[in-house]
Amino acid sequence: MNPKVEEIKQQLDQFRVEAGEHLEAFRLQFLSKKSELQQLLGEIKNVTPELRKDFGQKVNDLKQYAQQLFDDYKEKIENSATIQTSGIDVTRPAVLYTTGALHPVSMVMNQVCEIFEMIGFSTVSGPDIEDDWHVFSALNFPQDHPARDMQDTFFVNVNPEFLLRTHTSSLQVRTMESCLPPIRVICPGRVYRNETITARSHCIFHQVEGLYIAKDVSFAEMKQVLLFFAKEMFGEDTKIRLRPSYFPFTEPSAEMDIECKICGGKGCNVCKHSGWVEILGCGMVDPNVLNDCGIDSKKYSGYAFGLGIERMAMLKYKINDIRLYFENDVRFLGQFG
Ligand code: DAH
Repeated sequence: MNPKVEEIKQQLDQFRVEAGEHLEAFRLQFLSKKSELQQLLGEIKNVTPELRKDFGQKVNDLKQYAQQLFDDYKEKIENSATIQTSGIDVTRPAVLYTTGALHPVSMVMNQVCEIFEMIGFSTVSGPDIEDDWHVFSALNFPQDHPARDMQDTFFVNVNPEFLLRTHTSSLQVRTMESCLPPIRVICPGRVYRNETITARSHCIFHQVEGLYIAKDVSFAEMKQVLLFFAKEMFGEDTKIRLRPSYFPFTEPSAEMDIECKICGGKGCNVCKHSGWVEILGCGMVDPNVLNDCGIDSKKYSGYAFGLGIERMAMLKYKINDIRLYFENDVRFLGQFG
């Protein structure tokens, strides 16, 4: 190799560029018109033809090498200049910001309320700690009804007249006692039952109760409203069916199923191979309940329904264990926001 080329290469490798002034010195020494490297380039044409190609190649490679070094140093210095002047270390790993999100139970509860609000229902709320009248007596529960049993109900220790509401139907009573018909409300809330906690049941869960009282309200109207709800909630192609049932506060009473979303009605574990899943209870408000709550049952009639939010969210999001809602594991909760 040409000794001059070799010498300049060594100088290039030894040159330290750590600040702006070094960069300028580097440029003057290796890239300016007067630099040795530039002079070598000028000499190419004077070299004998048989050596010219090889020499030219080497000098040009060296020139490119010098230019590349210069560009790299320049970029490095410019970056460190911004870091110093702005006071921000752009190389530092970013802090992970986690944002909050609604709990899936709140999301589904809001969704249910929004659907009924679209068709004129207003949302009301009331106390979790209730008395026997609002939870049972006014709703036509006989004195010996098993739901009043210690097995199902949490009573308040210091005064067993009070209890944790076992359903949000208590808000039907409160609304009828304080409002004149027509009444069209939905009542979301938390409810409590003295039950063993398993994958399918919990001692705390959420319900949305619905109540419509006006003149000449029919069962057919209720069915249509509930069909509208099911389609909004689970999709336009959702099918429903009503099965006769019994609740003390409605007559006639029914339970509403939707076609199982998991197997499309073919039968699976979730629907216990029936193709249908129960999502709510409903019925025409019993005249005794209307009268007990101060509404003339000869003038007015109405329907009521109650649905469980956790169950609905389990179906919607294909969750197989109700306990997950209450464990506050963000890996689970973060999947819905
Ligand atoms: N309160 C009932 C429960 O907790 C649900 C229910 C059924 C509410 C029928 C209603 C109804 O308003 O008409 O199981």
